[in-house]
Amino acid sequence: MTPRSFLLTAELGDYVRANSEPPDDVAADLLAETAELADRGDVPSTFQIAPEQGTFMQLLTRALGVRRAIEIGTFTGYSALCVARGLPDDGSLLCLDTSEEWTAVARRYWDRAGLADQIELRLGDAHESLRALPAEPTFDLAFVDADKAGYADYVDQLHPRMTDGAVVLLDNTLRSGRVLDPQSDDDRALVELNAALATDPRWETVLLPLADGLTMLRRR
Ligand SMILES: C[S@@+](CC[C@H](N)C(=O)[O-])C[C@H]1O[C@@H](n2cnc3c(N)ncnc32)[C@H](O)[C@@H]1O
Repeated sequence: MTPRSFLLTAELGDYVRANSEPPDDVAADLLAETAELADRGDVPSTFQIAPEQGTFMQLLTRALGVRRAIEIGTFTGYSALCVARGLPDDGSLLCLDTSEEWTAVARRYWDRAGLADQIELRLGDAHESLRALPAEPTFDLAFVDADKAGYADYVDQLHPRMTDGAVVLLDNTLRSGRVLDPQSDDDRALVELNAALATDPRWETVLLPLADGLTMLRRR
């Protein structure tokens, strides 16, 4: 099953997708292959972002004129494909993930889309990969979709590496609604982070009810 916005009924989810720009053939095939792997139990079924979120992120990347982007949590590569599609020809995307197996799927689709030269993948713990990054060059867009308890560290580490006015997107900030009744350490970590970010002077913050909750931070 393709991921969808949890606040929408199946019918409304279909309506939203039918009235947004559809995924092209490469993105559609990647969505289908990941859904098939998930149906077989070979990959988690909740990992990939919803197609309407991918379309939004591609449009946002292009609208902001992003030239350098970073993604933390790549999996089979769909969100990266969307961001990379929104970049200009000389733009670049750095992807951080621990899984060689899942990102091997990603690499196949980036190749097919002609984006392999614009996307660099670094395998390893993203906290360490980020720490090892030089202060320059900075990024215009970041997408964070990895270990939820690590988001606060990612936000802190990203801040000095983002250009003024840059945007950081944090995924799953509604935790399928569990932010109202946290059940796990990951839920509690995001409840604390959501509250802290709402008044954090470093960022303009909005929590969008898109898909599983997408927090958008703009560096002041
Ligand atoms: C929710 S999935 C990302 C989904 C992806 N953005 C997409 O839309 O298809 C989370 C990914 O984060 C990676 N991950 C989890 N903890 C990590 C860490 N500490 N460092 C790097 N990657 C990590 C996992 O290997 C997994 O691929």
